[in-house]
This record gives sequence, structure tokens and C-alpha cells, in this order.
Amino acid sequence: MPRISRRDLLGSGLALSTSSLMTRTAWARSAALFSPAFGIIDSQAAGQDSAPATATIAPREQFLLDFGWKFMFGHGSDPARDLGFGSKQEDFAKTGDFKFAKVGFDDSKWRALNLPHDWAVELPFVRDEALQSHGYKPLGRRYPETSVGWYRKEFEIPASDAGRRVNIEFDGAFRDVLVFVNGCFVGRNDNGYAPFRFDITDFLSIGAKNCIVARVDASFGDGWFYEGAGIYRHVWLTKTDALHLARWESWVRPEATDGKAVNLQLAAVVVNEGKNLETAAVSWQILDAAGKMVTGARAAAQSFDLGRQAHFEAVAQLSDPALWSVDEPNLYSAIVTVETNGKPRDAERVSFGVRFLRFEADHGFFMNEKPLKIQGTCNHQDHAGVGAAVPDRLQAFRIGVLQQMGCNAIRTSHNMPTPELVAACDRMGMMMMCETRQMSSSREGLAQLETMIKRYRNSPSIILWSIGNEEWHLQNDMAEQGAKIAATMVRRCHELDPTRVVSAAVNGDNSKGVSEALDIIGFNYNLKFPDDYHQKHPTRAVFGSETASTVSTRGVYQTDPLRNTLSAYDENHPEWAELAEEWWSFYGTREWLAGGFAWTGFDYRGEPTPYGWPSINSNFGIVDMCGFPKDNFFYYKAWWTKQPVLHLFPHWNWEGREGDEIPVWVHSNLDEVELLLNGKSQGRQRVPRLGHVEWKVRYEPGTITAHGWKDGKLALTEERTTTGPAVALRLTAERTEIDADGEDLSVLTVSAVDSQGRAVPTADVLVDFKVTGEGALIGVGNGDPNCQESDKEPRRSLFNGLAQAIVQSTKTAGTIEITAEVDVRHVHMAPAKIAITTKQVALRPSA
Ligand code: GAL
Repeated sequence: MPRISRRDLLGSGLALSTSSLMTRTAWARSAALFSPAFGIIDSQAAGQDSAPATATIAPREQFLLDFGWKFMFGHGSDPARDLGFGSKQEDFAKTGDFKFAKVGFDDSKWRALNLPHDWAVELPFVRDEALQSHGYKPLGRRYPETSVGWYRKEFEIPASDAGRRVNIEFDGAFRDVLVFVNGCFVGRNDNGYAPFRFDITDFLSIGAKNCIVARVDASFGDGWFYEGAGIYRHVWLTKTDALHLARWESWVRPEATDGKAVNLQLAAVVVNEGKNLETAAVSWQILDAAGKMVTGARAAAQSFDLGRQAHFEAVAQLSDPALWSVDEPNLYSAIVTVETNGKPRDAERVSFGVRFLRFEADHGFFMNEKPLKIQGTCNHQDHAGVGAAVPDRLQAFRIGVLQQMGCNAIRTSHNMPTPELVAACDRMGMMMMCETRQMSSSREGLAQLETMIKRYRNSPSIILWSIGNEEWHLQNDMAEQGAKIAATMVRRCHELDPTRVVSAAVNGDNSKGVSEALDIIGFNYNLKFPDDYHQKHPTRAVFGSETASTVSTRGVYQTDPLRNTLSAYDENHPEWAELAEEWWSFYGTREWLAGGFAWTGFDYRGEPTPYGWPSINSNFGIVDMCGFPKDNFFYYKAWWTKQPVLHLFPHWNWEGREGDEIPVWVHSNLDEVELLLNGKSQGRQRVPRLGHVEWKVRYEPGTITAHGWKDGKLALTEERTTTGPAVALRLTAERTEIDADGEDLSVLTVSAVDSQGRAVPTADVLVDFKVTGEGALIGVGNGDPNCQESDKEPRRSLFNGLAQAIVQSTKTAGTIEITAEVDVRHVHMAPAKIAITTKQVALRPSA
């Protein structure tokens, strides 16, 4: 049976030599000999939804460097408005000369803010077609006054840090970053998605205040979609012993054995940056999800000199592992410890899962030996209100929304994701196709790819790597180079991670160019190609790397180019794309196809297809920018979940259209549906498999009712009733108790109800928010692709009855009170109030 499996790849010459293999008993004995005299201080608030995959273990310290920054706009072309930076040739001539990065520099006029921060979302919209991809935000070389930002922060380094290595680590920033510490330039980054770090040990003043400055320049872009601007991911300060684990070199690879146990292949690299020769050993304690040690291993000590590094490998046997799957995302962690003479010198926690993947050319995808169709969505990384600066908790919220419709996989299009998204997928059982931004075997391209793989190779959620998206030159006029570039990238992926297959999102017939080098074949759109390809290449596994691009607007039931709206019926797509029903009827009915990724789960800023201005965000989402479902959400839910689904639309508020024919649709996975208008049957229809049912109904106010039948029994009933006018606002919170850590948040929904408490689906009033107590409003949205209201002001119009407000806690426990009200000079509507309790928790260490 033709297949590509992790085992085949393991067999490709990359097998490990094992220095020790321990059973549970042997480990217990050895653990007694080496019991680390330190506690696990897992600083990442265990159990919190946002805990990242790799957490700090003493004696290493990791501080979140998000709080207490100062910010000001610089200038892309005028040094006088850019702190004088670049005004003379000698800027970089002498180390230590950058005054703005010295302690005591006057930043009192700079704005105080916390990270993550995206300044693009704060900018006004500008009508300039060159800005369309970026959602009409004024970024780029023609907007020098809004394209450069300076971040500055002072922090203490205690005397006790003498002799330690200190690194500053950025999870990602957009885009070109110059970093300065205590007046010295320490390094640069020039892409918007890869994490980067600098060892700043030599530049620090020990037992004193220190200063870090980052000049972030968003003049150049990386993609063709909204990318944000600024330090939009976390920043960390990491302190280690001079003898320490190398960054992202620790990995755990579960390998099946014949019995019920798995062998955990373990590896780590230790670097000696101290003054002396060191003799160090590495040990691994494997903990289950409850924190109980279940096995372990130890690699023999090695001696190595200053400036040298040593590789350590071992094998631990894990019996009867709790497998990771989308239904049961069981995680383990490995505490990796470096010790010399019984003394721990550095340690880290690596989170991993045990699961076995296989792509078969004629049977699709398997996880843990069970067939599993990939029901995926592609997603960009921005959200309503916050842009690209998505707080950790919002990652879990977004995954939760997608899971409700049965989505089991996310493609991180078209860039490597933030660590908190990957960690949330690991914890929540969401699979991932993890994609790098640049398809290139250049030094920069390979560096981005390597970083992605090293950073995330322990994450069980990641089922395949993608080396890029729609590189038409490399597929067509430069196919020869494309094949070579892709081959180099694929080879590097295999070297760094022999456990996963590699693919790319290809728009074309996959006959040449990059496709030649791929392990499995991804088709973007083009339903005409896969059958033919499968016939000609019966040994290559195939999936839909990008599908759909169906366009719709939430709560809108007429396509109107004059108003830039697209109906929410499954009926519009650009010429290259497909309806939800079209692509899933194709992928869902061919066993050999592994499934696919719909473009997109969430709407995103930029690419306002098909209309352009005044639309500022995409219409491709199955849910809108806020995560409010469009009607197609229920098409997917019907065919992607086993829950009975009966979704009736549109709403029944069509005042002024009495007598007009209104299309009424039902998305359902039941056998038959009967529709009634004010009690009168409009007919009963069988639901076609992977399809929907629809009627044309002459509008009269009242109620439409759908009865759904399964196996001859009435299973579900849904109604839409003509409501009265809105008389009151309503506020609901996704969570009413959150952590008082300055990071956690609650997502609030605002709606309007009539005198009988029924949600009014057409309400569009402007709502003002007041937030008092221990929290702040960090953003608002309503999912309207044509709305140019601010995401940051404390007000937002309802769009087709809904708006969203996101409130974040302070670090003090208490209550956040939120009031939503309308301006009673214009409309009479009762305000709504809600309170969120914030509870005291252990804070993540921050500097
Ligand atoms: C694809 C592309 C996506 C997005 C989409 C819109 O070709 O890969 O990034 O632009 O089209 O339909």
C-alpha cells in the first residue's frame, strides 16, 4: 500500500544512536541517584489556557518583558523626526553611542503601553489602492510618519545575575527591527513572523538599571494581507547559567514499539559559555498531564571546553501512553536538566504528545491508526479590536469557535504562528499545518524554516510542515529552480524533523516545479486537477491545501455591489474559488483525499475581495472578524460534526418587503426538513448528503419554523420570528470570572432585544462602552467588512444585531463593570451592564 509515514522517514538515515534505554524501574533507581534539589517553578501558570509549550524550570529564569514600555512614532525618511537616527554617517561608528538607548534618556513624552502591541490597528483608514492588502492602513514607504515605531523600556538586572547569560527574546515583530541595549546596537531582524533573540549579557550593567530600545520599521511587508505593525507578540528576558541548554535543540520523538509501550527518543544540546572545562550530564524526567513522573532517562556525562557544545541523546520507555488526539489531546512534558556533579545548572520543560500519523495515497490521513479527515481552515492571525496583537487567551477563544463547527485543523497561512497559538492547539486538540513565510533556500529563507521547525517540532498538534504558498514562478516559469529550492527546503525539514511529512500549498496541477520535491501534494482550489493527478500518481498522498474562498457577509441576505455586501447564502465566490458545498462535496466523498483547509475560518483585515474600498476586511471567513458565525458555519457544522444540526435562515424581519419572495435555507444533517410559515407548511424536503434544502417563501410577518426529522422522528425545531423594535441592549460575557494577571480577558457580545427579549437581527445602533474597576477595554468590533469605525475607541455600532467588546484584567483582583448604552438623544434603548470578577492568581514573572 503506497504511503508515506513517519517511519519511512525515520528509516531514511536519520535514526538516532541511543546512549541509554531505561525502563521505568531502572529510571526509579537512577532518579534516586540523581534527584534534582530544585522545585519546578513552572512560571507559566499551569492549567491556564494560554500556557506556552515550553515553560521555565529553575535554575533558569524567564521573565515576560511585556509590561511598562514607552512608545513613540519615528519617521521613515526624516531623521529629525526619528530621534536623529540616521542623520549622520557615524551613527553606528562607535559602540555605545546611541543615547536614546541609555538609562535616563528622557522618554516622558512617549506613550506608555504594554505589549503585545499593533499600532496599525490604531491608525485611520486611508483610501489608497496600494494599501488595499493591508486593509487600507497607512503603512509603507509612502507613509513614513506612521510606518516606524520606537519602543523603549528600562529594567533592573540584580547583582545576583553576575556570571549568568541573559537573552532578550522576541516571539515575533513586524517587521524590520533594530535592537539597542544600553546605547549599543545588539542586532536586527528583518521578517515579520520568525522569533529572534539576542544574547545581551556583555552589554548589561549588573546590579543596576538597564535600557532596551527597539526601532520597528513596518515600511516593507511580507505578505498580501493585513500584517500589523510593531512588537505584536511577547518579549522575554531569559537568564541561564553559562552552561546551558541550546535554544530549541531539545526534542522528544515518540516511536512505536511492538508492544504497548513507546520509546521516547530524547535529545538535547548543551553549550558551555563559561570560563572552564565542564563535565555535564543531561537527564529527562517525563511527566504525565497530572505532573506525575512516569519515566525518565539520563545521558552519560561529557566534558567540553569553553565555547563548545555537546549533543546528548537517550531513550526512555513509556508504557501504555495516553495518546494525543483531537478528541483527547493528552500531553506529556519532559523536564530536561543539565547537571554537573549532581548540581542542576539549567533546565527546561518541553511539552509533547504521543500520536502516530500517516498519509496514505489511497486512504487519506490516519491518526493513531484511525482514518481522520482533515476538516481544516486556513487562518491569518488578526482579530477584531486587537489586530495582530492577539492576547494569549484570545487564541483559545478563536480555536474554540472553530471547534464548534467541527474544524479539526488550522493552516497557519502564510507564516509561522505565535507560540501561544501552537500551545493552545496542543492543549485543545486542534491539528495544524504549520507554514513558513518565505519559500526560498536562501540563507534567510532556510533560517526562517529552521527556526519554525526547531521551535515547534515537539508540538503534537502539528501534523505537517508547509514550505510555502502559491509560488507561481517556482511552479511555472522558474519550475527548474522551484524543484531545486523546494528539494533543499524539504531535505532540511527532514533533517530537523524526520517524523513529519512536508508539503506546500500549490495553485496549479502539481506537475512540476516545487511539487516534485514534496512528500505529499497540496492543491489550492482547482477541483479539476486532483482526480487526474491521483490517477497519474497513485503513490502520492493528496490533500486540499487551500479551498473554498466562498465570500459572504454575516446577517446579509442580498448581494449588492452598490453597498459592498455579499449574501450569506452559500452562493458567491471569486472566479478561482468554490462554494462551501462544492469543495466539501468533492473532498468529503473521496476516501483517498486526506481532507482540506477552507479559506478562511475567520475573516481578516485586508484583501477586501471582491469589492475594495470602503470594505476594509475580507469576506472569506466562515465566521466574521469577531468570530460571530455566518450561516455557512452551520453547513460545516452539519457535515463536520456528529451533532444533529438544523439551522434556519434568514431572519424574519423584512418590513417593507411583504409579498416578496425570500429564499429560505436550512443547513442540516437530519434526513428531512419541513418548513412552515405562520403554521402553514411550505413543503417537506429530503436533505441531500453534503447539501442543503431551500424554499422560496412570500414574506409576511410572523414566524417561519423548520422541523427536522431523523429516522422518521421529529428531532429538532428552529424558528425565526419577526421581532418588534429594539428597546434594550444586552451584554453577555464568554467568561464572567477571569484571572487578575493583566493578560486574561473576556469577550463580550452586545446585542439589542425587543420588548419580549428577542434579539433584533437588524439592529445597528451605535453603542458606547464604559469600563470601570479592575480592567480595561482593549478593543471593539462588529464583523462588518465595510465598517471604518475605530477598533480602539470605546464605542461601536451593532452590525446586523451584534458587536464585540474585549476587556482585559489588571493585575489587581476585583471586579470589572462594563456598561453598554446608546445616546438617548437619538434612540431610546435601555442600557446593559455586566460585571466580570477577576481573581488573584500567581503572576508570570515579569521584568
Ligand atoms: C489564495 C491565496 C490566499 C488568499 C486567497 C483569496 O490564492 O493563497 O492568500 O489570497 O487566494 O482567495
